[in-house]
Amino acid sequence: MDKFIIHGGAALAGTVRVSGSKNAALPILMASILNGSTSVIKNAPDVWDVDTTLRLLRQLGAQAERGEDGAIRIDTEELNHLEAPYDLVKTMRASVLTLGPLLARFNQAKVSLPGGCAIGARPVDQHLKGMSELGAEIVLAHGYIKARAPRRLRGARIVFDTPTVGGTENVLMAAVLARGITVLQNCAREPEVCDLANALNAMGAKISGIGTTDLIIEGVDELKPLDWSIIPDRIEAGTLIAAAAVTGGDVTLEDCRPEMLTAMVKKVSEMGVLIEETPKGVRVRRPGALKANSLTTGPYPGFPTDMQAQLMALMTVAEGQSTATETIFENRFMHVGELQRMGADIRLEGKTAVVRGVPKLQGASVMATDLRASACLVLAGLVAEDSTEISRIYHLDRGYERLEEKLRDLGAAVERIKE
Ligand code: UD1
Repeated sequence: MDKFIIHGGAALAGTVRVSGSKNAALPILMASILNGSTSVIKNAPDVWDVDTTLRLLRQLGAQAERGEDGAIRIDTEELNHLEAPYDLVKTMRASVLTLGPLLARFNQAKVSLPGGCAIGARPVDQHLKGMSELGAEIVLAHGYIKARAPRRLRGARIVFDTPTVGGTENVLMAAVLARGITVLQNCAREPEVCDLANALNAMGAKISGIGTTDLIIEGVDELKPLDWSIIPDRIEAGTLIAAAAVTGGDVTLEDCRPEMLTAMVKKVSEMGVLIEETPKGVRVRRPGALKANSLTTGPYPGFPTDMQAQLMALMTVAEGQSTATETIFENRFMHVGELQRMGADIRLEGKTAVVRGVPKLQGASVMATDLRASACLVLAGLVAEDSTEISRIYHLDRGYERLEEKLRDLGAAVERIKE
């Protein structure tokens, strides 16, 4: 298991390119199951979760490779194995997104139940509710979801109990090949859901309402080959903005779409960070001290749960008292204990972390517990005195493309120790 050693203190400076979005790439890769032909997917980040998805597609019988040019080519014509096994689903929850496409194309699927994870229980009841309203018979047995549609799926009106990103994506992929009209209400409208819907339309699907909470899908009989470029990763962009901010740096982000980051940009600006669009990209500077602020996570366009941990790193060294309230997941404060080991003053009150800024964090040995918590610890390490050792960095490798190289190019002292 690799670890990072970070010597804090350097103010980051320079230009960095934002990679393609992991959370958009995974569902779009899964959507390639639907067309039974070829898909070319560009700008998918080179991260473990993308590798795992390609492995899963190959296990299902697809051909899936990343070429020298970085584009991923997938052929699902011969795909014939309709099971997403436990050993892959347990390493990546997004594997459950095979359910909708397999069911839509083959009228059956067997997918391992993902179970809980480090940040919360994360049920999939809304995915299953959607599939059964489209006409699938669902049986849960021996840790697997077994779904079968006696006939082709048929359109229905489905109201999600809560806006779920994965649930919206899964049911959307099932509905595009269903007979008739499907109306999905109370959908998640994260940019990654929109990128999937736009990619499906590029394959010949008929989805309207993209970007709103109500999606209307007119089922089609078949889909065409896909040629798609994934949107930039707003969470990686937000993490790099936080890195510039926490170190008091001056960094320009290329391929950053600030309109997808409104809630984050607003919070960080209120904390004393200057963010401006320039011809070269989005420039981030922090001329003065960081000021305390408060945030509450929520479905898009609310503050993203995937940025909560990184903003908390900023709060630990901001002047005054900040709060971070997590409303999406019940256990997404695993980074708190590690930040405390670095000298942060944080008190947990139920769903809220109360953070009193300290003048300095101290380097320490800490452990990454999930993807975004790892990013939070890297940010803390960048400003801590002396050196910080972060173990279990594999969490970071799941979702950030060469983060340490990007930070090093900006002047950070980050070293990966291979073990
Ligand atoms: C969530 C985030 C997404 C983030 C991802 C990884 C939101 C709305 N979604 O997506 O931005 O990239 O985590 O950190 O912030 N739920 C149910 N039943 C279901 C599905 C979900 O009750 O069938 C609940 C979840 O427990 C959670 C909420 O709905 O409280 C949102 O979950 P969902 O959006 O599905 O999670 P992800 O798709 O994993």
